[in-house]
Amino acid sequence: MSIPTSILWEKNKLIILDQRKLPIEIEYLTLETIEDVYDAIVKLKVRGAPAISIAGAYGLANAAQKYNANTINDFLQELQKDYVYLIGSRPTAVNLKWALNRLMSSVQNIESVTKAKSVLIQEAINIHEEDEEFCKSIGEYALTLLNDKTKVMTICNAGSIATAKYGTALALFHLGSERGKHFEVYACETRPVFQGARLTVWELQQSGVDVTLITDSMAAHTIHSKGIEAIIVGADRIAANGDTANKIGTMNLAILAKAFDIPFYVAAPSSTFDLTINSGEEIIIEERNADEITIIGEQRITPPNTKVFNPAFDVTPAKYITAIITEKGIIDQNYVDTIQRLFGN
Ligand code: MRU
Repeated sequence: MSIPTSILWEKNKLIILDQRKLPIEIEYLTLETIEDVYDAIVKLKVRGAPAISIAGAYGLANAAQKYNANTINDFLQELQKDYVYLIGSRPTAVNLKWALNRLMSSVQNIESVTKAKSVLIQEAINIHEEDEEFCKSIGEYALTLLNDKTKVMTICNAGSIATAKYGTALALFHLGSERGKHFEVYACETRPVFQGARLTVWELQQSGVDVTLITDSMAAHTIHSKGIEAIIVGADRIAANGDTANKIGTMNLAILAKAFDIPFYVAAPSSTFDLTINSGEEIIIEERNADEITIIGEQRITPPNTKVFNPAFDVTPAKYITAIITEKGIIDQNYVDTIQRLFGN
């Protein structure tokens, strides 16, 4: 039994586990160019907010190694172009922008091109290593909150393969499993592209966690009939007031948690907080291709020319969130003030 990971940095090469193919094939891809990284993010070969940010950071740092610029100003201009290009890959998760901003800041006062190249690689490695540390810490805090609970529901995959390691919402299950704590996880399949069915079920099975799959529409019945005690989810962007964007269907679960009077937890590292926006109203929701809904596998399941609305995320208002679990601790009251104190500059 082991906790799977999806991003490797080996001999200056970025290698990712192709999440589109899981669990049917376990295939690793080397991403050579910035176009490869952009394509991998858009096509969900690498997905999950922190994993996207780590791959993006290596992608930008790697691209910069090939610039022919002789002066630092020319170098920074090329870097800026690639930065803008990569940020355009997926709009909702803020972690990618956060990571690329960190890379840009790391070279602002560097005077030589050679030095800037090595600083960028080191900053990407720092982001990767920190994410693992932060996820572990999120898992420890989550365990303190959920230690007396057994049956927990989740949606999408906010797991080890969506981060450097451990995951955010799934970290407590991995850590719990290592320590002999038995959780029963109920994973919503997560239409349209089945991150729950394909990825969360696979990931938890790999580390020996008891996981049961349900379809998204079974959530209310399952909470009631199986006695679900808590719901925990990840996040793609958290506004200054605690409103949280996460995979489409998350808000349904939050409302259900309220109706059934069980806690609804969001787990996320500091890179997911966006204090430039006051509320979730300002979060851009990615809309994806209709084929994700009209085709399952190779099979079209709808009449031709079916009109489709396919938002990839929704925004759960902070009032439905019992607590936000971060690497800096648990936020369970006064969201605006606490978020500002912990994550403001
Ligand atoms: O479209 P995806 O699969 O990238 O969406 C992922 C999620 O919504 C996750 O819950 C979120 O990014 C947190 S991953 C630790």
